[in-house]
Amino acid sequence: MIEARFNGTWQGWRDCARALTSRHTPPWDILWNASAGSPGLFDSDELCGEGARLNVPRDFLECAPIVACHRSPEPWRVLYRLLFRITHGERHLLEIESDEDVLEFRRMEKSVRRDMHKMHAFVRFRRTADDDYIAWYRPDHDILHINADFFVRRFGSMRWAILTPTASAFWDAETLRFGPGAPHSAAPRDDELEDLWRTYYASVFNPARANVRAMTKELPVRHWPTLPEAALIPKLLAESSLRITAIERTHTRSATHFIPAGASLPVLRQAAAGCEGCDLRLYATQTVFGEGPVNARIVLVGEQPGDSEDLAGRPFAGPAGEVLDCALREAGIDREEVYVTNAVKHFKFIERGKRRIHERPRGPEISACRPWLEAELRLIRPDLIVCMGATAAQSALGRAVRIQSERGVFLPHHIGAEAMVTIHPSAILRIPDPVAAEAERVRLVADLRGAAARIRGLDNTMKLA
Ligand code: URA
Ligand code: SF4
Repeated sequence: MIEARFNGTWQGWRDCARALTSRHTPPWDILWNASAGSPGLFDSDELCGEGARLNVPRDFLECAPIVACHRSPEPWRVLYRLLFRITHGERHLLEIESDEDVLEFRRMEKSVRRDMHKMHAFVRFRRTADDDYIAWYRPDHDILHINADFFVRRFGSMRWAILTPTASAFWDAETLRFGPGAPHSAAPRDDELEDLWRTYYASVFNPARANVRAMTKELPVRHWPTLPEAALIPKLLAESSLRITAIERTHTRSATHFIPAGASLPVLRQAAAGCEGCDLRLYATQTVFGEGPVNARIVLVGEQPGDSEDLAGRPFAGPAGEVLDCALREAGIDREEVYVTNAVKHFKFIERGKRRIHERPRGPEISACRPWLEAELRLIRPDLIVCMGATAAQSALGRAVRIQSERGVFLPHHIGAEAMVTIHPSAILRIPDPVAAEAERVRLVADLRGAAARIRGLDNTMKLA
């Protein structure tokens, strides 16, 4: 009997297993001991030498690291039994689904994958005084290493730590590091971000699993009171029948299937929070729906939410919003009286270090999201639609528009309103020369004044008629 000592990691096991199987050591001759501090039993030359290279099917290579996260003494034994058999005449073993070892391998793989998925939905960060974000989470399996990339992709611009009882992950917006486990008390309790997390949770909530029995299994009821998201569960369950129909009808990449027929504006907004019409929702924090009175006479359409809007959940809440508010004021338009929205309802960005840099939405994303704008316009029935920038114009008018040649002109719109195009407030922020920027700002104000005058003109025409 050989005692194969390794450090309990996939890499440590793999190196040992490679050496053992190339020496034809059968599984029944090995006692796996995963508590050694050093990587493996054998010296590194022997482990990494050409002789130790193994040719195994891709399916095994992809699934074995996942099975290795299974928290039981079994994964190492099961993995080695499979590896030994695969490398000793049964190369296609994984295709035999009824084989006892394969069944065990698949059962473990499924359990770990389910745990990984659950972690995506239930890890909840809290903000520290230093603007770091800390989450404490107890996974069923040792999945932190294999799952950390998901959080890097989703929260790449934040500095965060995820602490679990057996390991911790730290992301400083550039590098991912791992450390030892931490007790629950290491994570702060005060939470400025609970509202943000409720919103995030609402947007990841999957109504397909929304029956109470399933939820109790996923998240034991005793944990519900400790989660701020739990407050949302009854509401989400009530809405879920509507959302299930929406999701089941998803055949093409479009928001159409998520729009409830005959919905009021608040219902529309709620439904948009669960839109899966395109992939932008996977990376953004939340849907940023339009805002303003349902009887507004002017609808202002922007491109898509920016970084600030993505966090605030409101359109034009950041720097571009300041430019817009100021221009509206100068043009004599009260922002409270107009409806402000965007062509695309989720923030599209690329990550550069800690920053999320705006990226223009592409044609398919604009088309996927267009049904929301159309539904907003049909409910509000404004007299005038002001399209700020080319994306807004393309979505509202359904065709490519050249801003400079069509700006300030009143164009017919298919819902029975008029449309006008002007530049986007962010375009002004991007002009480096302050004199040129001011000239553009004055032109934006002039266009908005023209819009206000057009509405007054319509009033006079109506009075005369
Ligand atoms: N730019 C937009 O187009 N919309 C916003 O809401 C913010 C910035
Ligand atoms: Fe839906 Fe629009 Fe968001 Fe895409 S961008 S998921 S279509 S709301």
